[in-house]
Amino acid sequence: MQYALALFFSVTVAFAGDFMTQMEYAKMLYENPRGIGCNHCHGPKGEGKVLARYQDKGKKKELIAPPIHSLSQEAFLKGLARGNTIMPTYFLTKDEIESLYYYVTQSKEK
Ligand code: HEC
Repeated sequence: MQYALALFFSVTVAFAGDFMTQMEYAKMLYENPRGIGCNHCHGPKGEGKVLARYQDKGKKKELIAPPIHSLSQEAFLKGLARGNTIMPTYFLTKDEIESLYYYVTQSKEK
């Protein structure tokens, strides 16, 4: 009886643990992707953010990190791979990029 209970308990915990781990891992990667965290520019959940406001020849301008939580997986990949002037280049594996994509798209739905 005790054994059965212990087994039941550990199976339940393992299941919950696995679920948490995928999300926690993805969040951790989003905040610390071996470089400056995506959250610093794209916001805690990929909702996008104004990075700076400035004036150029008397015109008000904004420097924006776009929202990245509603892109297709392909656009997400392309956006990450595309070199640009502001966003740093990351060296992420396919699995890591999938986790990041999972994080921003899942966070958005909650
Ligand atoms: C220093 C600020 C900064 C950081 C850090 C950063 N980004 Fe960006 N990101 C930008 C800016 C600015 C753009 C728009 C760039 C452009 O179009 O040139 C962008 C564009 C993107 C795009 C393309 C969006 C689109 O609509 O095409 C994706 C996807 C993206 N970032 C994902 C990430 C992920 C994932 C991380 C973390 C691994 C990250 N970014 C970290 C600033 C940042």
